[in-house]
Amino acid sequence: MSVLAIANLRVNFGGLIALDDVFIDVAPNSIVGLIGPNGAGKTTLFNCISGLVAPTSGEISIHGKKVDWLKSYELANFEISRTLQGVGLFSGLSVIENVMMGADKKRESNFLKDLFGLSAKSERKLRAKAQDALAWAGALDLADKTPSELTYPETKRVSIARALVSEPKILLLDEPAAGLGQDDIDKFADLLRQLKQRCAIIIVEHHVDFIGAISDQVYVLNFGKVIASGSFDTVKRDPAVLAAYLGTSNQSGTDQLGVNNA
Ligand SMILES: Nc1ncnc2c1ncn2[C@@H]1O[C@H](COP(=O)(O)OP(=O)(O)OP(=O)(O)O)[C@@H](O)[C@H]1O
Ligand SMILES: [Mg+2]
Repeated sequence: MSVLAIANLRVNFGGLIALDDVFIDVAPNSIVGLIGPNGAGKTTLFNCISGLVAPTSGEISIHGKKVDWLKSYELANFEISRTLQGVGLFSGLSVIENVMMGADKKRESNFLKDLFGLSAKSERKLRAKAQDALAWAGALDLADKTPSELTYPETKRVSIARALVSEPKILLLDEPAAGLGQDDIDKFADLLRQLKQRCAIIIVEHHVDFIGAISDQVYVLNFGKVIASGSFDTVKRDPAVLAAYLGTSNQSGTDQLGVNNA
C-alpha cells in the first residue's frame, strides 16, 4: 500500500495552470525523485504535499486513507516531516536542542518556553529521541556544538535530524544537495539510502545524477504535467523527457540530464 497517493491534482494560480492532472504514488520505504525543467511545477507539487499551497482539485490518500487537503500545521498528524527552506537553525541553541525543537508538533513560537518547562523525564525522553535522530543523520558527534561551529554539509545533516525527530513516515526534502560539492553529495546519497529503512522520502532536486543514484521512482514534470514516471533508467531515455530538457531530443547518445545513454 502507498504511504502517499495523489491523483488528478490541479493547481491554478489565477489563469495559470501550474499543475494539471498530476499523480504520484509513494511506496513505503522508497525514495521518490521529482525532476523537471524550470517552472515545471516541482515546487508547487511539493508545496501541495506539505500544505503550503491549496490545490484547486484532486485526491490524496495517506496510508490508504482519503484525507482532506493537507494543511501545514497538520503534517505531523499525518507523519509527514520536511526540512525547512534554507537551513534555519537557531544560533542560540546547541545542535541537540535544535533537533529537539523538531519534535514540536504545532511549531509554536513559545516552544522554547515549553522545552525548558518539560519535566525531567519528558526532557530525557526527547533528548534520547534527538540523539537517535542525530545518529541516523550521521551527526551524533555534533550534538553539543553550536550552529556557527558547523560546516555547511554538517548543517544539512542536522536539518535532516531535526526533521526525523518527529518519527515521520514520509520525509520531504527540498533541494537538499544544493550547494554541496561532489564528495558531500555522494555521502549524502549514502545517508538517504540508509534513511529509507526508516521512512519514505520525496525529494525535489536539480542534481539529476544525484536523483538517479538514489531514487526508486522518478517523476518528471513539464509545464505542470507528469510527462514520465518510473525508474531513472527508464525515464532518462524517454523521448518526452529528453525533449523537455533539450527542447529537442539529440542523437549523440548523451543527453542533457548528464547521463550517458550508450
Ligand atoms: N504563488 C504563485 N503565484 C503565481 N504563479 C506561481 C506561483 N508559484 C509558482 N507559480 C508559477 O507556477 C509554475 C510552476 O512553478 P514552480 O515554482 O512550481 O516550478 P519549479 O518546477 O519548481 O521550477 P524551478 O525548477 O525553477 O524551481 C511557474 O509558471 C511559476 O511561475
Ligand atoms: Mg522550484
